[in-house]
Amino acid sequence: MTSAALFDVSGRVGLITGAAAGLGFAMAEALSENGARVVLFDQDATQLSKSVSDFQISGGEVMGIAGDVTQADAMSAAVERTLERFGRLDIVIANAGISDPDRAMLHETSHEGWQRVVDVNLNGVFNTCHAALKPMMAQRSGKIITVASMWGLVGAAGLQPRPAYSATKGAVVNLTREMAVEYAAFGIQINALCPGFFHTTGRPRNAVQAAEFEAYTPMGRIAEPSEIKGSVLYLASSASDFVTGTTLVIDGGVVAR
Ligand code: NAI
Repeated sequence: MTSAALFDVSGRVGLITGAAAGLGFAMAEALSENGARVVLFDQDATQLSKSVSDFQISGGEVMGIAGDVTQADAMSAAVERTLERFGRLDIVIANAGISDPDRAMLHETSHEGWQRVVDVNLNGVFNTCHAALKPMMAQRSGKIITVASMWGLVGAAGLQPRPAYSATKGAVVNLTREMAVEYAAFGIQINALCPGFFHTTGRPRNAVQAAEFEAYTPMGRIAEPSEIKGSVLYLASSASDFVTGTTLVIDGGVVAR
């Protein structure tokens, strides 16, 4: 296979959660621009329909499904609809995630805030993989990309307390390793992306925080969403066929500090 063919995802079908905006939208673009048919899943129905239209305008084959990753039934239904419409499921990106709503140290974090982050960031990934694995096992092929964070690998070093975020992203990293080992024999590769600071919805919150993020990043800047595309395409395509259970860090050098 030529190296260009390795990255070709033509005809493959990808389902991306949290795809109406931010990194998830850029991930869906990366797949669509390289020939995949994409299913955008998001709880924000209004933004979702705008994003689906953007794909249609640029000629991509796309379907939008509104739903919440914390609802197991919604995820199973999304996988069923994907199979009905496109007949297969090759790539799943468990991307939907949120930060700690309380932005507080652990002793000041509300139980509700903690629970919501666990529900979206961890249970949501479980629900997504739970729904996707059976059809992939039947196909004897599949690529699952979980979206963790650099804060799933190292502590945030006093930048901003986010106990539930760090806990859930660390859990996603190790869940990814666990699943990778369990499903390797079924031809399914499962890897985690660990982004650093990216410009997305409301991130960074203000100029002070932007300066803080830039100063903390060895490369001295915050990334644009499009800078996630190369890593996504690598993990979604045959270019990574012997890669499973690993973490791909895209953070401008933070974790290397
Ligand atoms: P974002 O907030 O810009 O977009 C997230 C999308 O997910 C939104 O469209 C939202 O409606 C959707 N969503 C949220 N909860 C949902 C749910 N329960 N069910 C379905 N959809 C839901 O977020 P961003 O920045 O694009 O982050 C995407 C992923 O990347 C998250 O897992 C985040 O933790 C991770 N990440 C982001 C970083 C950044 O700097 N932006 C850094 C490290 C990781």
